[in-house]
Amino acid sequence: MTTNQDFKRHRRLRSSGSMRSLTRENHVRTEDLIYPMFIIEGENIKQEVPSMPGVFQVSLDRLNEELKEINELGIKAILLFGVPKEKDEQGTGAFIEDGMVQEATRAIKKEYPEILVVADTCLCEYTSHGHCGVIHNGDVDNDASLKLLAKTAVSQAQAGADIIAPSNMMDGFVTFIRQALDEAGYTNIPIMSYAVKYASAFYGPFRDAADSTPQFGDRKTYQMDPANRLEALREAESDMEEGADFLIVKPAMTYLDIVRDVKNKSNAPVVAYNVSGEYSMVKAAALNGWINEQELVMEKLTAMKRAGADLIITYFAKDVAKWLNQ
Ligand code: PBG
Repeated sequence: MTTNQDFKRHRRLRSSGSMRSLTRENHVRTEDLIYPMFIIEGENIKQEVPSMPGVFQVSLDRLNEELKEINELGIKAILLFGVPKEKDEQGTGAFIEDGMVQEATRAIKKEYPEILVVADTCLCEYTSHGHCGVIHNGDVDNDASLKLLAKTAVSQAQAGADIIAPSNMMDGFVTFIRQALDEAGYTNIPIMSYAVKYASAFYGPFRDAADSTPQFGDRKTYQMDPANRLEALREAESDMEEGADFLIVKPAMTYLDIVRDVKNKSNAPVVAYNVSGEYSMVKAAALNGWINEQELVMEKLTAMKRAGADLIITYFAKDVAKWLNQ
């Protein structure tokens, strides 16, 4: 048979495993992953989050079990959330010296100095009303919240956090936090901004894990409308101008168009947050035997890289590291 010039033979580059791996464009590496952890107040606690099989709330005294595993798997960065016993109107637990994130950070940096601690900077896990800022006249007060967020960031840096990750979606948080960090002498601590964060139903399981469900209303006056794209670009642009060092897009899976847009518009590292609901959906299907978990997770995360994510925050980090090490 003669060569047919009328069509291209794309299958040439798919002919074998070696050929496919030679021509593969995107890869997920353990070094790209950030593993979120929930530090709960109390003693001798390691309890599985019911809606997130395989994810645990861990007390300070049992943190080492998790850290040892993470370290052995080669995971280089973790994202810390605190789950305190006491909450109040101001979210005081977020910025006190012996807060959950601050204590955990100190312990981690002492035992495992090479693991990067990313501190989530928000008030919702610490406020009695569950909102990400302070409430005035029934609404979250932007500028009053900024002061507390800046205080939170500085206390986290003081405890030894390597990266500050504000997730509260108040306007101006990057400016305020950058200024406060600089004034306190932390000019070298980068800000990983949750620049683009949608008001998403995919956060449901996280709110169980972090005990941070709003007690009234919703987060729609500060988190973004899932219908909007240009708004995401405005958010990313202003965070860059304000001095963000990394840009997070959250959630990831249903917002890969936004990951690509943000990547195309900025030269900062882009971080996709593969959120709790995205994790739980896969786990539920896997536990039912309906999908191949490993293949599906690798496909999902590779798609995030293809969309332009440089880094991925994911509850699958430990699983992925295991699979990659095999
Ligand atoms: C808010 C915050 C949220 C998540 C991380 N930080 C969500 C929210 O309740 O608005 C969600 C993460 C996830 O779903 O995995 N400070």
